[in-house]
Amino acid sequence: MQKVVLNGETETIELGKKIGAQLKMGDVIVLTGELGSGKTKLTEGILTFFGLQNEISSPTFTIVNEYQTPQFPIYHFDVYRLEGSDEFLAIGGEEYFEKGVSIIEWGEMIADILPPQYTKISFSRELKDDNKRILTIEQI
Ligand SMILES: Nc1ncnc2c1ncn2[C@@H]1O[C@H](COP(=O)(O)OP(=O)(O)OP(=O)(O)O)[C@@H](O)[C@H]1O
Ligand SMILES: [Mg+2]
Repeated sequence: MQKVVLNGETETIELGKKIGAQLKMGDVIVLTGELGSGKTKLTEGILTFFGLQNEISSPTFTIVNEYQTPQFPIYHFDVYRLEGSDEFLAIGGEEYFEKGVSIIEWGEMIADILPPQYTKISFSRELKDDNKRILTIEQI
């Protein structure tokens, strides 16, 4: 488990770029943490590595947004509004995992149907500093 302190959204974008550079086909990244903690911002950083930073929109209402890169498609999910894993399966969610790279905001809500191995990034905020985020990164 790795712990990272990020002071401001620029540092979050930079971390996202580094994560983007290491992605491989089939990778699944779960982003967990309260509203406004930076899950979409980190995803923006990942897409920035691929030159797609201008295209990002939050998938809150669409559940999944798809981005094309030369190596693999990136599927950006936000499962906050789903009832749970059954609804994720019903939209064919599981089929995305092996077709590209999946980044899943609120992915802990569907923990029971995630692949056996994935990266879990947990975000927490600090009351006294609105721009500070503490991330823990673990390989599950
Ligand atoms: N260090 C930081 N890292 C990321 N975002 C930061 C940081 N400091 C301030 N922010 C601000 O916090 C907000 C994070 O919003 P973001 O949409 O990424 O959160 P989220 O976790 O995806 O929320 P939601 O659960 O609603 O989808 C942005 O407005 C961003 O500018
Ligand atoms: Mg978000």
